[in-house]
Amino acid sequence: MKSTLRVAQIGAGGFGYRHIACLNSSQGRRFFNYRAAADPAFASNASLREAFERDGHRYYKDFEVMLDQERDLDAVTIAAPIHLHEPIIRKCLRRGLFIFLEKPPVPLLEQLHQLQTLPGQERVAVGFQWIASHPVQLAKRWIREQRLGEIKSLKALAAWPRRDDYYLRNNWAGSMEHNGTPVLDGPATNALAHLIHNMMYLGEFATDGFTSPRHSEGEFYRVRPTIDSYDLVCLRGELLSGPLYHAALSHACRQDIPFSILVSGTHGWLRIANDGCLLESSWGERHEYPNEIDEVYDFAFEDFALFCRGRRSRPFSTLADTAGYLMATSGALHASEGIRPVDAAWIQPYEEDGMTGYTLRGHTDFLTEASRTAKLFSELDLPWAIDRKISPRVSSLSR
Ligand SMILES: NC(=O)c1ccc[n+]([C@@H]2O[C@H](COP(=O)([O-])OP(=O)(O)OC[C@H]3O[C@@H](n4cnc5c(N)ncnc54)[C@H](O)[C@@H]3O)[C@@H](O)[C@H]2O)c1
Repeated sequence: MKSTLRVAQIGAGGFGYRHIACLNSSQGRRFFNYRAAADPAFASNASLREAFERDGHRYYKDFEVMLDQERDLDAVTIAAPIHLHEPIIRKCLRRGLFIFLEKPPVPLLEQLHQLQTLPGQERVAVGFQWIASHPVQLAKRWIREQRLGEIKSLKALAAWPRRDDYYLRNNWAGSMEHNGTPVLDGPATNALAHLIHNMMYLGEFATDGFTSPRHSEGEFYRVRPTIDSYDLVCLRGELLSGPLYHAALSHACRQDIPFSILVSGTHGWLRIANDGCLLESSWGERHEYPNEIDEVYDFAFEDFALFCRGRRSRPFSTLADTAGYLMATSGALHASEGIRPVDAAWIQPYEEDGMTGYTLRGHTDFLTEASRTAKLFSELDLPWAIDRKISPRVSSLSR
């Protein structure tokens, strides 16, 4: 690469630590000249300020002031709260910048469509980093080589426990809206959104790109009583490319189920498992990637740098590529007719490390069974689930 990219970061606290680590790493320094960061938390967080001063980076409380001052930037990375992505992207695109945008791009499909009308929108790389991972890339190759035959189904399964520390870390966790702006924070639309996006990638077998759902349905439940969003979800639909997709995802659990995606075809199956660190197949080929969780982010940042420099024609995920993810989640939420609070009689609170979490009896079993059978929770006749005989609905979707 001729010269390093002049880059600044928007959102340095929270998950922004990952961006800081990538930009400051020895590999990151080969690609990036990390100029500055903007975060309102610099006003109150002395240790964040000190870390930036020590590393010789400038810092700002307001990203617009930063963009005014740092006039020669090539790119920004955005790890700000989800509901702020859209206005921040608009302002950065007006400056002609390349953007590495944390997932999920925006909460709503309509917002994505609006962003797609803006000049320069093709300069946005969406940081769904798992697309860049070894297991997902190799799985996509096997699928394109038709090793599985005709793909029939894709199923994502995960339970990542979330307790007070997760929900109290900021003022939008567990919210559907913040100050009237959509957030849609929950397992399918934030922490485990990767799995839906990955299914749109692996479910497209004719090209290197992404597919989207023909229709989508789902059930969204609130187990944790202190949130207004959901923490337990199952969704299902049919992809334009043909196969069925299904996801059973939860934060309302005590026991972890590491994330997995099972892809089944007429000749065999493959499974990405152990939170993305393992790829196994029905024909016995098996690859372990013990360091993938840390390394995948460096791949994604390297790819972004090469894309900015014109050495890659497209990033791993463009804004347009995320339409399928947004159709699957928005469509399922629409079809679900909203979030159902689970009756308190079925909820089991637990205490761990001085923090409270919430779960339901038999959680691991019913989540696994929903995935195995590709059923919605109500179809398993769980006593707390909605009565589908009263309100079955499916959202038909068009791009
Ligand atoms: N790729 C992944 O695996 C992964 C993992 C975790 C979070 N994320 C994503 O990272 C993003 C941030 O999530 P989080 O959990 O760290 O959120 P957070 O709210 O905990 O942290 C966000 C940071 O942005 C700052 N911020 C708020 N308003 C800002 C503004 N106007 N300008 C600049 N900075 C501002 C906050 O002060 C905070 O430091 C989300 O999109 C989330 O989905 C991605």
